[in-house]
Amino acid sequence: MQLKRTLIIYAAAVVLAACEAPREVAEVEVIPYPQSVVAGRGTVKLPSSLTFSADMPQAELNDLLAYLPDYALPMKPDGKDAFVQIIEVGENLLDSASAEGYKLSVDKQGVRIQAATAAGAFYGLQTLAQLARGKDELPVLTVEDAPRFPYRGLHLDVSRHFFDKEHVKKQIDLIATYKMNRLHWHLTDGGGWRLEIPGYPELTQVAAWRKPANYLEWRKDGRFYPQDTEGVYGGYYTADDVREVVEYARLRHVTVIPEIEMPGHSSEVLAVYPQLSCTGKPYTSGEVCIGNEDTFTFFEDVLDEVMRLFPSHYIHIGGDEASRRHWKACPKCQRRMREEGLKDESQLQSYMIARIERYLNGKGRDIIGWDEILEGGLAPNATVMSWRSTEAGIRAASMRHDAIMTPEDYFYLDRYQDDPETQPLAFGSTIPLAAVYSYDLPDTLSPAVEKHIIGVQGNTWAEYIPTPEHAEYMIYPRAMAIAEVGWTQPAHKDAENFRHRVNREVRHIEGMGYHPFPLSVQVLHAQEVDYNNRCIRLSLTSERYPIDIRYTTDGTEPTAVSALYEGEFVVKDSLLLAARLFDGDKPLGKTLHLRTDYHKAIGKTITYAKRGGYYTAKASYMAGGDAGLVDGKRGGKSYADGYWQGFCPNDLDATIDLGEVTDIHRVVACFMQVKSPNVFLPAQVDVYVSVDGKNFTLLGSDTCPEEEAAKEVAYVDLGWTGAPVPARFVRFHAKQRMKQFLFTDEIVVQ
Ligand code: ACM
Ligand code: ZN
Repeated sequence: MQLKRTLIIYAAAVVLAACEAPREVAEVEVIPYPQSVVAGRGTVKLPSSLTFSADMPQAELNDLLAYLPDYALPMKPDGKDAFVQIIEVGENLLDSASAEGYKLSVDKQGVRIQAATAAGAFYGLQTLAQLARGKDELPVLTVEDAPRFPYRGLHLDVSRHFFDKEHVKKQIDLIATYKMNRLHWHLTDGGGWRLEIPGYPELTQVAAWRKPANYLEWRKDGRFYPQDTEGVYGGYYTADDVREVVEYARLRHVTVIPEIEMPGHSSEVLAVYPQLSCTGKPYTSGEVCIGNEDTFTFFEDVLDEVMRLFPSHYIHIGGDEASRRHWKACPKCQRRMREEGLKDESQLQSYMIARIERYLNGKGRDIIGWDEILEGGLAPNATVMSWRSTEAGIRAASMRHDAIMTPEDYFYLDRYQDDPETQPLAFGSTIPLAAVYSYDLPDTLSPAVEKHIIGVQGNTWAEYIPTPEHAEYMIYPRAMAIAEVGWTQPAHKDAENFRHRVNREVRHIEGMGYHPFPLSVQVLHAQEVDYNNRCIRLSLTSERYPIDIRYTTDGTEPTAVSALYEGEFVVKDSLLLAARLFDGDKPLGKTLHLRTDYHKAIGKTITYAKRGGYYTAKASYMAGGDAGLVDGKRGGKSYADGYWQGFCPNDLDATIDLGEVTDIHRVVACFMQVKSPNVFLPAQVDVYVSVDGKNFTLLGSDTCPEEEAAKEVAYVDLGWTGAPVPARFVRFHAKQRMKQFLFTDEIVVQ
C-alpha cells in the first residue's frame, strides 16, 4: 500500500496570494457574494443608535419605512448627518445593465448606498446588515454589486401539504435578504386547491380538505376528498390573505408568481367538477378535457381572479406531466383535434396552452410553463421553466424564448441533502449543498442564447414535507446556494469560501427562529482518477467549518488523537480509510469507511450482454457510458450524481476483458437501494471467469441479506472473494429483484 499526503493546494494558494492585483480585495461574510469588494484602510465604529437619510421618491421612502421594523439593523430616520445615507441616483452605477445594482461605501463619515432603483437600495441595505452583524465596527471598503440574472426564485408547493400565510411571509422575508426576488406559489395540484375563487366555492369548501393529513398516507388511501368536515386537514388562502402576502413581498422587492396547474395535476378540480374530465366522473383522471368549452370557461374565470389578486406580469400555468391517455379515448378531445387540425395529443395540450396564453396576453400578462410545453409546439410568447434538464431551457432560449433554470438534479429541494440513512424520508436522489452550489450553464452558449436564460429557481415540492419546520429544513441552506448561483458571477463564486459563510449563516438563521438543516456531520469525499500515473487522488471535506477530520488506515475507528487530515491521498493500489469529523475531542456523525482501489479492471474493456445493458434515457444514469463501471470512480450517496449506472428493467450482465490472464481474488460491486423512486437491490449476483472468453466457470453467487432488502435506503457490496484464480475474462451478472432500477457504480476486480 502506498499513500502520500500532499500540500499542493496550500502551496498554490501562497503563490496566488503573492501575485495579486495591487488593489486589495477583501473577503466579506455576505451571501450572495458581491461582484466587487475593495478594502480601504482601517475601520469605522458603528454608532450605538443608527440613523439614516434617504434621497428617494416619497412613495419608495414610505415603502422603506414600512419594511424597516423587520430590517436586521435598527435605524431611525435623520437629516443630513445620518450615518447611513441612501441615495437613489436614477441611473446605473455599474457597467451592468441591471437596475438592481448598488454601490456601498464605508468610510470615516459612515455608510453611503447609491442605487438606481429602490430595489438596488434595498439590496445595499441587505449587504450592510450582513457586514454589520455581530460587530461594533465596519471595515472601510467599497462594494459594487449587481445580479447575474434578473430572475432569482424560490418555489413553494402548498398543495401537497398546506402552509399558512405566516409561513409563506416568513420565507419571503428571509429569501429577500439573500437578494432573491421571485416567489413561485404552487397554489393548485392534486393534493388540494388553495385559492378562494368567486363562483366556485367547492374548490375551497371541498377540494382543499382531506383525511389523513399526511399526503403520502392520503395518496395510499385513494386520494379522496371527504364529504364530511370532521377532523379534516387542509386550508386555503382568502383574497385578503393573498393581498397581504403580495404586499409583504412587494415591500421586500419580491414578486409573487401564482401557478394554476393545467391541463394535468388537476384531479382536485375534477373531484368537485367531474364534468370537466373526459370521463365525466370524479377520481378517474388528473387531466381536464380539452374538447370541452366549459374547461376554458373555468380556467378563464379562475385566471380573472388570479389577475385581480396578483400584479405579477407572469402567470405560471403549469403544463407538466399531463397523461395523454384520456384524451386519446375521449370523443370531445378527438373532435377538437380534427377541427383544429392537431395531429397528436401533444399538439392538443399545446392548443390549450396557446389558447390560455392568448387569453392572458390579451390582458397584458405573459405565461410561464414547465418544459413539457415545448413538446407539441411552444406557445408564441411563453417563458419556459426547465425542470427535467438544463438542455430543455437551452432549447427554448435557442428559439428566442426566455427560460428559467430549475433542473431537478440541482435545484429540487424535496431531494435528500445528506446521506439518506441519516435523513427524514425525502424524494429520491441526494443533492447536497455543494452540488447545488456547483450549478452553472454550459460555457458553450452563444450570447444570443444566454441572454434568454433569465434566471434560476429552487423548487420545494411538498409530498414529503408535512410540516412548516420540515419545509425550512429542506429549503435552507440550499436556497442560499441558489441565491448565490443566481446573483454572483461565476468568476466571483468560491465553493470553499461559501462553505465558511454558510456555516455562519445557518447558525444565524437558527437564532432567528428558522429550522435549517444544520449542515452535514458526515465526512464527504471526492476522487480523481489519474490514468497516466495509475492512481486515484482522494480528498476529504465537510460541510461544517471549522472542523477537524481525523482518520486511520489500519481498519480501526478514528479517535480524537488519530491523524489529522491535511491534504489528499494518492492511492496507487488500495486504501482502507476510516475518517470522522471531530469538534475538538467530540466525534460527530458517522465514520466514513471507504475502500479505494486502483483495481485490475480500471480502463479495461467491458461488454454488456444483449439483455444486460444500462439504461440510456437519462445521461446521469449512464455514468459515463461503457467505461462507467471500470473507470475507478465511485459514487456518493445519490444515484443521480453521474457515477452510478442504472439498469431498468433488465439485469446488469457484463463481461470485462482484463487483456491478459491475471490472478484475481475479489470481484465486487456496491448496489444501492432507495425505495421511494423504485431503486432496488439485486436479488442475486453471479461471478464467472474464463481464460478464453468462451468457457466460463461460476466462481460464486451472492445474495442480498433480507434485512438490507427490507430497508428504505441501503448500500450493499455483492460479489465474490476467495483464493486467487487465473482469469482473463470476468462476467458479472446482477439479477433484478423487482424489475425496476438497479444501480451500481463500479465493478472492482482485485
Ligand atoms: C415538476 O416537477 N413536475 C415540474
Ligand atoms: Zn376530453
